[in-house]
Amino acid sequence: MTPASDLDWLKRQAALKATDYVHDGMVVGLGTGTTSRHLIIALGERVRAGLKIRAVPTSHDTADLARHSGIPIIDSDHAWTIDVAIDGADQVDPQFNLVKGGGGALLKEKIVAAAAKRFVVMVDHTKLVPALGGSFPLPIEVVPFGWGSTARHIERASGGTAVLRERNGVVFQTEAGHVILDLHMPKIDDPASLEIELNQVPGIVETGLFIGRTSILIVGHTQGVDVTSATES
Ligand code: A5P
Repeated sequence: MTPASDLDWLKRQAALKATDYVHDGMVVGLGTGTTSRHLIIALGERVRAGLKIRAVPTSHDTADLARHSGIPIIDSDHAWTIDVAIDGADQVDPQFNLVKGGGGALLKEKIVAAAAKRFVVMVDHTKLVPALGGSFPLPIEVVPFGWGSTARHIERASGGTAVLRERNGVVFQTEAGHVILDLHMPKIDDPASLEIELNQVPGIVETGLFIGRTSILIVGHTQGVDVTSATES
């Protein structure tokens, strides 16, 4: 197993490579998580050296770090044209479909990815999986009202087990005031169909499945960084 410090180094290498996709004048969607932190810190250095960008953050943590790094932020109610969104992921399958939401920011992350002309995903190699599911549960953001019934509905639709996310013994609340059900499935055979099916369930706000959204995948390996365009995969 790769030690956490080495994984963090690989995430940083992937994040540094992702900065190649950011140019003067761009509006940049900034993801959430440890890999995105490396990206924001690196972009902050470039901004302080003269790069002119504006950013749309996908969480309060990301917004705070971006501001602290000197990156100008666009208001959340702005009608954005995002040139590139850059984010991490929890799992990536061979078709570049993703599971996201380990940090609970999946709703804003998906809105920003969907609003971007290009979506760049940066991960360390341990995030690559032959199929989504299994070791990592699928985060699903649901409204708190009737979450137990929503969970049963999700379980019937998927065949999996939905567990209400808690942190330190307290129910985890998203920035939008929702809760998260982590759906455990041995394997997600058909992620696109599952997303369509889950979107029919009342109470679901958004799922952590990002299907067909990745434009560029950047993977940090011990031997170096791999970059693949989704059209080449
Ligand atoms: C946040 O909700 C997630 O979608 C993150 O993007 C994902 O968990 C990747 O996180 P790390 O970069 O910390 O591995």
